[in-house]
Amino acid sequence: MLAELFNKHGTDKESVHHYAAIYEWLLADRRMEPLRILEVGVASGASLRAWEEYFPNAEIVGVDKNPKAKLAVVSRSKIVIGDATQLATLRDLGLFDVVIDDGSHLPRDQSAVFSLLWPRTRIVYILEDVGVGGGRNRFNILGWLNERFRREIDSWRTPAPPMCWTIIAKELVAFRRITQ
Ligand SMILES: C[S@@+](CC[C@H](N)C(=O)[O-])C[C@H]1O[C@@H](n2cnc3c(N)ncnc32)[C@H](O)[C@@H]1O
Repeated sequence: MLAELFNKHGTDKESVHHYAAIYEWLLADRRMEPLRILEVGVASGASLRAWEEYFPNAEIVGVDKNPKAKLAVVSRSKIVIGDATQLATLRDLGLFDVVIDDGSHLPRDQSAVFSLLWPRTRIVYILEDVGVGGGRNRFNILGWLNERFRREIDSWRTPAPPMCWTIIAKELVAFRRITQ
């Protein structure tokens, strides 16, 4: 179902990246819930339109640093113009159940956005297109994430509650909080 929606609305999430099955595996059982969903990277609004249809009860927010994203044709999504690597853009947006980073795909941006948005993520954080920027790109961001979580795990007190698990599939990395 999600694959058809991605193709219908014109995002390349299925046609190029084949992410639909992974998204459905992560979220199909929650698609009717009143989720708060944030996607970094709006462009023409294609993926926001797919989310609007797939998650009929969700509140959807898109962030894009390009002011042209305000022209995206969406129905109920809110579009925020700003750089998602900057706290000022995200500070007043609250917490989200699902966060998707489909922004610049540059490791330095992916790590900055992750640092700001993972603490605001209640269920799952999805980082798309890891490695799209070149061969070393994949190694760099995965190495950074590995170090980030090693430090987080080291800092846990006992009992250790804020656990998450990680899925790496194709060019997508997802972090899901075990407590949800
Ligand atoms: C791949 S497109 C998004 C595609 C859209 N998610 C879809 O599937 O239809 C990436 C978008 O991310 C935006 N972007 C890049 N870096 C960003 C940043 N640091 N903060 C916010 N938006 C950013 C770009 O302006 C561009 O519109």
